[in-house]
Amino acid sequence: ILTHLQKQCATPLPVLRHVADAMAADMRAGLAVDGGSDLKMILSYVDTFPTGNEKGLFYALDLGGTNFRVLRVQLGGKDERVIATEFEQVTIPQELMFGTSEELFDFIACGLANFAKKEGGKFHLPSGRKREIGFTFSFPVKQTSIDSGILMKWTKGFAVSGTAGRDVVACLNEAMERQGLDMQVSALVNDTVGTLAGARYWDDDVMVAVILGTGTNACYVERTDVIPKLQGQMSSSGRTIISTEWGAFSNGLPLTEFDRDMDAASINPGEQIFEKTISGMYLGEIVRRVLLKMAEAGALFGEYVSEKLSTPFILRTPDICAMQQDNSDHLDAVGAILYDVAGVKSDLSVRKMVVEVCDTIVKRGGRLAGAGIVGILQKMEEDSKDLIFGKRTVVAMDGGLYENYPQYRRYLKEAVTELLGLEMSKNVVIEHSKDGSGIGAALLAASNSKY
Ligand code: BG6
Ligand code: GLC
Repeated sequence: ILTHLQKQCATPLPVLRHVADAMAADMRAGLAVDGGSDLKMILSYVDTFPTGNEKGLFYALDLGGTNFRVLRVQLGGKDERVIATEFEQVTIPQELMFGTSEELFDFIACGLANFAKKEGGKFHLPSGRKREIGFTFSFPVKQTSIDSGILMKWTKGFAVSGTAGRDVVACLNEAMERQGLDMQVSALVNDTVGTLAGARYWDDDVMVAVILGTGTNACYVERTDVIPKLQGQMSSSGRTIISTEWGAFSNGLPLTEFDRDMDAASINPGEQIFEKTISGMYLGEIVRRVLLKMAEAGALFGEYVSEKLSTPFILRTPDICAMQQDNSDHLDAVGAILYDVAGVKSDLSVRKMVVEVCDTIVKRGGRLAGAGIVGILQKMEEDSKDLIFGKRTVVAMDGGLYENYPQYRRYLKEAVTELLGLEMSKNVVIEHSKDGSGIGAALLAASNSKY
């Protein structure tokens, strides 16, 4: 089973090349017309970047896949830049992911109201102004302006009723009203867009941002004259950020029966195939499915197949990550995780095999993510006449998977180097931009301030 899995998950250079080329082609098709490809290529309405001159107090709300964060930042303009920031973070309660739109937005507005009450110290709002918010909403949204957009569908296991098809800023405004909170959304952004804006505040060479966390997505700076679906509407800067929603990419991926079965059992079968192959929500579950088959068909853990191992999503990506960090002689941590999480006993040879399964799935994920990044750079170089490979180009990365999984990061970077060659890849700087999306959203609220 393991040998077969390794064969099916292999990502030699021709496979990576195919994925990069197909990503570039799908991007073009999605820019031509809405619905032109799996990639939605969403117009962000972010046409200019924060300049560094932004001043004042701004808030950010960050609804990702796992956490909800509120943040305030006092911006001081050119010389002082970021004077102070404060944030609070909570895990999104599981039941809210399956509840109603009102429940979810009330939770957000309530968190914001409590946080806003604690404002003081270095934070100061000039009189006569409302507090302005940059709202990072990390799901596919059809933007209708910089401060409004309609949720197309939920991803990452969310199944909240009553939000799809609605303006998420209106949903938030209604919830804020219910909380008696008088604040105003000035920018609605995807987490990738927030990350790009936040990273670019410090470094002008940032052209792409990628989130590899619970879910995955990438955005980049595009020239408006190569976006046919804009129908000639150019921005003053001639540029705009496009959120690719690359999680929906599906072309030529090396998939297995485990991926297909997981997809079929998911709440969105047939959708988000790239996301299901490379992102944090799913890697642990793919490994669990492989181990279950090895247990059932090959008695990997003895005659007995534990109930825990048969439970979907019981093995999480942080677990397989922890197993891969075990350098002890007897792989004690691997044994302990298998016992605690999956309810199975193991000897050293079994543990080694389990680590190989983890590595196979993580290697495929990291390398495919790397190929996706090269696809974006390739597209920019070919169509946009941006000299991507001839100069320093920064790809800002964020998300729990990228941040916490060293092997994943290494596989991703190796694939980029293999595809671009050593010389060319030296110009491509893949850099972790920690928590930039919150600051980025606040900066975009500032540059789109109503005042
Ligand atoms: C955070 C960003 O660091 O990463 C969020 O601030 C983003 O905007 C998140 O959604 C994604 O990572 P994860 O692991 O929480 O899904
Ligand atoms: C999912 C969402 C996307 C988001 C990504 C990373 O793919 O659809 O909007 O950017 O997760 O959080």
